[in-house]
This record gives sequence, structure tokens and C-alpha cells, in this order.
Amino acid sequence: MVQFRSLRLSLRFVIPLVIALGILAYGVVPLVDNLTLRWFVRDIDIRSQLIGRTLHEPLAQLLPEGNSSRINALLLRATQDERLLALGYCDAGGTLRYRTPAFPKSLDCSSIVFKNKDKDEGTLLRLPQGAVHVSVYPMVAEEGAGGSLILVHDMSFVERRSADTRKYVIIFFVVLGIVVSLITVFVAHLSWRGWMEGVRAMLRGEGILRPFSPQKAQNSELQPLVGDLRALLRTLDAERRFADDATITWSPESLRTLLHKQLVGERILVVSNREPYLHIKKDDHIEVNRPASGLVTAVEPVMRACSGTWIAHGSGSADRETVDRHDRVRVPPQKPEYNLRRIWLTKEEEQGYYYGFANEGLWPLCHIAHVRPVFRTSDWEQYVKINQRFADAVVAEADNDDPVVLVQDYHFALLPGMIRRALPKATIITFWHIPWPNPESFGICPWREELLKGMLGSTILGFHTPYHCKNFLETVDRYLETRIEHESSTISRRGQLTMVESYPISIQWPPPWEGALPPVATTRAEILQGLGLPPEHLLGVGVDRMDYTKGILERFAAVERMLELHPELAGRFTFVQIAAPTRSALEEYRAFEDRVHGMSERINDRFSRDGRPAIILKAQHHEPEEVNRYYRAADVCMVTSLHDGMNLVAKEYVAARDDERGALVLSQFTGAAHELHEALIVNPYHVEQTAEALYRALTMPDYEQQERMRSMRALVRDFNVYRWAGRMLLDAARVRQRQKLAARIGGES
Ligand code: F6P
Repeated sequence: MVQFRSLRLSLRFVIPLVIALGILAYGVVPLVDNLTLRWFVRDIDIRSQLIGRTLHEPLAQLLPEGNSSRINALLLRATQDERLLALGYCDAGGTLRYRTPAFPKSLDCSSIVFKNKDKDEGTLLRLPQGAVHVSVYPMVAEEGAGGSLILVHDMSFVERRSADTRKYVIIFFVVLGIVVSLITVFVAHLSWRGWMEGVRAMLRGEGILRPFSPQKAQNSELQPLVGDLRALLRTLDAERRFADDATITWSPESLRTLLHKQLVGERILVVSNREPYLHIKKDDHIEVNRPASGLVTAVEPVMRACSGTWIAHGSGSADRETVDRHDRVRVPPQKPEYNLRRIWLTKEEEQGYYYGFANEGLWPLCHIAHVRPVFRTSDWEQYVKINQRFADAVVAEADNDDPVVLVQDYHFALLPGMIRRALPKATIITFWHIPWPNPESFGICPWREELLKGMLGSTILGFHTPYHCKNFLETVDRYLETRIEHESSTISRRGQLTMVESYPISIQWPPPWEGALPPVATTRAEILQGLGLPPEHLLGVGVDRMDYTKGILERFAAVERMLELHPELAGRFTFVQIAAPTRSALEEYRAFEDRVHGMSERINDRFSRDGRPAIILKAQHHEPEEVNRYYRAADVCMVTSLHDGMNLVAKEYVAARDDERGALVLSQFTGAAHELHEALIVNPYHVEQTAEALYRALTMPDYEQQERMRSMRALVRDFNVYRWAGRMLLDAARVRQRQKLAARIGGES
């Protein structure tokens, strides 16, 4: 294949070359002809002079005697030279007196002598017997009565030589053409191979990296152009992204269209630990629960838009009863749109993989929340085993050899590498939903290299913020032998290229219940009444899993401090904390929950007035619709995470407030703080600052609430979850196109 292409390419060069050489030969032959003729004429002129000088003396002696026979004999002897055709003698009166037999009859003495009288050069004439050169050698008057010796040279040999020269010139050009063509084909073939290798590597993305081997770098024919091509590819990508953002309004429909157009209707495979729907046994019936999970909140609408299969741990008590014989169930239960494939874990496996390695090891490792990570070999072994089980499920669910797989979160750091080994052509998009720490912090993990290698099986590796991407690149740089291109944020390891990019996650827009909800005032009145609070009561809300990273204790401390500073608000303000139980099997979480309960009770002892508590702690699961009612009722929402990848509660609160009221207090340590600039940004470790922000939120004038909320809503509307998924899928589609093009232009050779 490559040979034919290079031949075709070189023919494109060789044919014009041959034509050019032909034209050149055509022009050169007459030139050479002319040149050789002039050389010969000059040669004959010199010879004529020589012969003239030689004959001059004897002829001068014989002419006065008028001895014709001796004169003719002298002239005849002189014509023994093969090129001298004839000699004649014209007297001063222009009469041909003597001549050798071959002297052309058509030559007329007077005109010849007249023409050549004062010239050293002869004249070329074409006579019936052929081309001749005629020159005149004058005899001095005293000695030869002023006549002229006429020398006629045969020029046919010049024509013969000229024909020979022409032949050799043509042969020379033909041989030159063949040699140049062969060299061209050979060089073009070598260059084509080199180029194709380079271009293929570039399309795979490798070419946009600095060559690893300095030797290779020097030899690479593509090297001088790598910089330009790299810049070009980057510009094209940037322009396309810009154009996408400017032209696409992200919605379920645009995401679906994108999938059909760019990924030719590929079915998406999603892998996460947490499943989007849990079937739970309740007395004599089965209930469906939706977990309190940012991951599920974000990915579920994407799956509904794209369809496909979501592979997750079946952790609900009635999950096994609700699947088919392939462990699949169609969801959402009310309006099925995609498959949920459940993976079963034993208690021991869940303990090691999920509670142990993922949540006692990686979770505190990645969150700087001052809880020490715990790493046990037995947990690691379960983590490896369960990652492999999910990888096997991906292979089983894939209906082609290059599926698009979306791997979610820190439970599956090894999964991309495992899928890559089984399905080398798969497009694997891994999204890390939690922060990525700096290299020193990550370095304490005993299996850091294995985790990084596993993650680098991904085609695209996404984090919420550029800062997390930077931390990841630095971590890889510190612990693995790879090539890293910081400009394009790509890592190459053993021929596998991973693009590391930030994709800020978000929520669906419009919100699922848009237009179907009672007015905010109604909901607020209902909620306050339900809580036993008067209608004018000020309400704050916090919605989290009961997790030590969420800054719930710091939030309570801020509420307490605010009430200390503004005691007039005691009995007029209540903070409702919804805290879904989470990972309660872990001692750290149980202890944390106890502390939260203890602290809320202590604050209530200080600031409750007339049965109106300062804090209401609702430490149980709430369905999203119920959470949304609290968002709509609250004057302020507090998000005070000590460290958080994004935090979707902040965005959900903004989305819930279609009345453009309410204020958001937001920790600077969340990804959301990089987007929601109109929130009141706080350092949750700074109690006074957070308390002050809470007070400011509660006393914020309406117009200011409206301005801030309107601006934040516009951002969440435009940068919604369909954009998050769409941008990753668009990038994946580009990588796939390039890979396919690379395979096409180079075959598999
Ligand atoms: O923040 C990381 C994360 O995986 C989220 O995506 C999700 O909201 C949360 O943790 C869920 O935790 P779990 O699945 O352990 O309940």
C-alpha cells in the first residue's frame, strides 16, 4: 500500500521532470548544433589560411609562367586532403583561370571574390552537391597579378558530426532523466514512509509530543515541521472548541445529535461504583431510591440523552430481584431509556475495594481535609480484583471492538488500563470527580505507580479544574517514565496517549421540574410550617452527604458565631442541615456523625428560642424533589467544603431559584467557586469570615440577590451537564477521527 502511494507520489514529480528534460533537450540540440558548426567553420577558416599560405609561394612562381598543367597539378595535389573539395584561381579580372575538376560550376569568381575579399572567414553555401565552405586567399599583385585562390571545403562531414552530436545529446538527456527519476522514486519512497510514520504519529497525537529519543529526534524527517504541525493542530482544536461553544446550545437534544453525527450513534458505556437507581425492600414491597451522589446527579441525565449501558455496583437490598438473567434492568423505572447492568460484590469485597482502598485510602488522600489515609494490602488486592471484574463486564457489554467508555471516579483508577488491554481500540474517557492532590501528597500511596499507569490507559482524563490537571501532570512527571507535553496537556506512555483536560461538571438545565412547581412563596410557607417555624422566619440550608470533607462542623461554627455577633437573630433564624448518611461502616464517618449531632445540640442549647432551634439536623436520605423544595424555601444556602472537586449542591441551589432570590455562601475550596463568582466566597476555616458572609447573605437587599442570582443562573444554564459530557465526547470524537485517519493513510504497515 505504502509502496503504491509513494510510487504515485513520485510519478507526480517524475512526469513533469521528464517533460521538462524533453523540453530542455529540444532547446539544447539546435544550440549544440550551432555551436559545433561554428567551431568547425572556424577550424576550416584556419585550415584555409594555412593551405593558402602554403600554396601561395609555389603558385606565385608558376602564375607568371602561365604553365597551366603545372598549376593544375599543384592545385590537384593540394586537394588530396579529404575535406578540401576543390581549388580554383580567379584572376584580377574575375575570370576563373584554373580549377580542379571538382570545383563547383555554379561558383562565380566575381561574386565570391567580392563577398570574401577583405574577410578572414569563409562563406557557407548550400550547392546541389551539398554544403560547402568557400574561402578566398588573395595573391599579392606583384607576385600573382592580384588574383585570388578559391578554396572550397566539403561541409558534409560537419552535418554528419552534428547528427552524431544530436544523437549523443538526446541519449544523454534520456539517461539523465532515467537516473533522476530513479533517484526521485527512491528518495520519495523513503521520505513518504518517514512522513507517513510522522503524520500517523501526529494524528495519533504522538507527533505533538517532543520525541523521547534524542537519536530519533535527529533522524526524524518530520522534525523540522513538528513545531508547525503541532501548533496548527492546537489552533484547529482551539478554534473548533471555540466554535462549538459559540454555536451549540447544550441540551439533551444537542447531545443526542452530537452523538449521532460525531460518534455515528455509538452506544455509550458508563462505569461507576454508585448506581443511579437502587431497589430497596420496604416491608412487603420494593421501593426505588436515587442516591445522594453528585456523580449520579450529573451522569444520569447524560445517559438518558445518550442511552447505552450503565455498569454499576448493585447495592440495593432488592437489586437482585429486579434484574434479568444478564443482571440488567431498564431504567428510569417510570420511563426506561437505558440499561443498568449490575455487578455483585460480596461483603468482603465491598469492604476491601469500596470502604477500604477507595474510601479510607484514596478519598482522604485526594481531599486535603486532615484525615489520614489508610492503606492496607488486603484492600488493595480487592481493589484490583473488583476493577478487573468491572473491566470484564465492559468487555462483555461492548458490542464492537472500539466502544466509547466513560469511567467514573476514584473507585476505578485501574480500570482504564485493564479495558485498554482487552480492547486496544476503545475510546476511554475517565472522569475523576474528586480533587487531585500535589505530587508529595499523592506520593504516600504505596501503589501510586500502579494507579497512575492504570489511569493512563484512558484516551481522555478529565478533572474539574485546570489546577487538578496540573497536579496530575506533575504527579505523573514525578513518578513515571513518560513524555509530557505541557502545552497540549498530553501524556504519552508506551505508545498510549492520554489527553488531560478540565471539564467542569454541572447539572441538567433546564432543571427536571421546571415549570411544574408551585411558586417559591408557597413552598417556603409549606416548609416553614412543616418545620414548625413562623412565616417570617429566616431560613438557611445545607445539603451534603455526612462527610468530613463537606465542612459541616465549620458551617455550624459559623452559624454559632453569627448568632453570637448578632444575637437579635436567635429565634428568628434557623439553619436546616440535610445530611444523607454515607459510608457509615467506617469508624471515621461514624465519629464524624456523632460530632455533627453533638455540635448541633450544643448550639441549639445556646441559641434556641421559644421552640425555634438554631439548627435542624435532618440526618437521613431525601429524594431530589424534596431537597429542591428546601432550596426554594431557603434565604441562604451554605456550601463550606474543606476541599471538593466541584460541588453540585451550589449549582442545584442556583438552578432551583427561578425567582432570582436567595444567596449562596460558597467555600473557596470547591471547583464551583471558580465559576460562581457572584456567590459570597469564604474560607470555611475562617469562622468569623464565614459568619460574616452568612449574616450578609441574610440581610442582602432584594436587588443584589437578584443581580447575583441572575448572573449565576446564566452561567449554570450555559455551562450545564450536557456541555460537560458534550465537550468530552466531542474531544473523544476528534481523537477517534484522527486515529481512523492515521490507520487509513498508513494502512497497518
Ligand atoms: O465526590 C465523589 C463522589 O464519588 C461523588 O461523585 C459522589 O457524589 C459521592 O462521591 C458519592 O459517594 P458514595 O458513592 O460513596 O456514596
